[in-house]
Amino acid sequence: LFAEFAITSHGFLPEETPLERLPDPYYAPWECLIRRLPASIEAHTIRAEIDALPMLSADRLSTVAEWRRACVILAFIAHGYIWGGDHPSEILPPVITVPLLRVCSRLGLPPVATFASLNLWNFRSASPTLGFSSLDTIHALHTITGTEDESWFLMVSVAIEAQGAYIIPVMLHALEAIQQDDYPTVTRALNEMSRCIGKIAALLERMYEKCNPGVFYHRVRTLLAGSWNMAAAGLPRGVFYDEGNGNGQWRQLRGGSNGQSSLIQFIDIVLGVQHSSCGNSRPEKVTAAGQSRSANCSAGAAAAGFHEEVREYMPEAHRRFLEHVSRILPGGIRKVVADMHLAAAENGITSDQLEMQNAFQGTIKALAGLRNKHLQIVARYIIIPARQPNDAVTKRVNLATASSSKRTCPMAAAGGQLAELELTGTGGTALLPFLKQTRDETLIAGAIFF
Ligand code: HEM
Ligand code: ALA
Repeated sequence: LFAEFAITSHGFLPEETPLERLPDPYYAPWECLIRRLPASIEAHTIRAEIDALPMLSADRLSTVAEWRRACVILAFIAHGYIWGGDHPSEILPPVITVPLLRVCSRLGLPPVATFASLNLWNFRSASPTLGFSSLDTIHALHTITGTEDESWFLMVSVAIEAQGAYIIPVMLHALEAIQQDDYPTVTRALNEMSRCIGKIAALLERMYEKCNPGVFYHRVRTLLAGSWNMAAAGLPRGVFYDEGNGNGQWRQLRGGSNGQSSLIQFIDIVLGVQHSSCGNSRPEKVTAAGQSRSANCSAGAAAAGFHEEVREYMPEAHRRFLEHVSRILPGGIRKVVADMHLAAAENGITSDQLEMQNAFQGTIKALAGLRNKHLQIVARYIIIPARQPNDAVTKRVNLATASSSKRTCPMAAAGGQLAELELTGTGGTALLPFLKQTRDETLIAGAIFF
């Protein structure tokens, strides 16, 4: 079952640490470029270097690990090209576009940096025996800024995925048990889930240890930004993926976001927490085709909320896994608890059932607590730096090529002047209203008893 859905003993992470180099020397130009990406961006030579690349074919990739490695390289390079200048580039050249489209379609991903290419397939471990959840022994293979802050930011999520992996089989077992009215098993599983969410929250809090909010806001977010809802940052039409010979297409894609984590969505599905917001609370926007529409959602996903839509940004097998889990127990554990509560008026309630209801409430509380901690992070890493000038932080950045550069992310260029409501997450949402709603939707799932 797990192999079919590309789930390993580390959950959604691969079983082995990702490939660090494509073995075929044919791909040396890509490997050289990715290794000097931060320096090339800093020196403003990145676009010229990419334009000078030979057109390489994806045909020589063989194993899944190689396809994933190619996906990591091309996603980083693409974002370096788009965001690595004083102004974003609206055009992605064929040397990136052609292999990127091929590799991403093979892996079932959109042609943009995703949680898979930035996190799941982009780390190494100094000590594989310690497991991947030991934040102090894992490191990002690639970053766009070359900073420890960025590596730490990416690795916190990897550690969370590794830490949370054990809850997947525990909860699948609970979904079976609940159908056989085996409430004590479900209670134990829910209590374990609460503990697991607590450990995830503790890892999230470690963000503050080595990721400086100023560096994150002014520099790191660049790599994550997509082309959807990025008009204010200079991409009103999205990005034109030039495939050469007069072919190509404008695309508006969400940027990388931890909202693409299959683990967190798994937890929501099992519990029965439902999200509906598409994330954009602004009244109107203009589509790639130039039409104005009420922007409840992005092109091609008319009625889908953010959470449903970003499943398209997960590796295909993981997306299928979440669909599979949704079908095992539609409405999740919440539905069973709610039905039980209704029936209790007539039939009374057993102590096993009561304990399960309490365990469910406890888990919902833990999950809402995690989302509150995440809101604090967003305040500290986005809202506050957006109001401050950028000087002090960029000096702190230790880059071999430029120690006192004042380059900044075009997304943050208006830093200090942007109204809070104008801020956009790399995933294209209106940040605070969206994240408060996801927190409230979590609490609502627990509000059964009145
Ligand atoms: C969504 C910011 C780290 C989990 C979001 C969004 C923002 C954001 C702005 C809204 C989507 C968008 O437009 O991008 C941040 C910042 C972080 C951080 C600034 C660190 C500096 C993390 C980590 C996790 C995480 C480590 C792992 C648990 C999520 C989830 C969502 C989300 C699950 C989707 C909304 C939800 O389900 O509640 N984040 N995030 N974030 N983030 Fe983070
Ligand atoms: N999604 C996060 C942001 O908007 C990382 O910065």
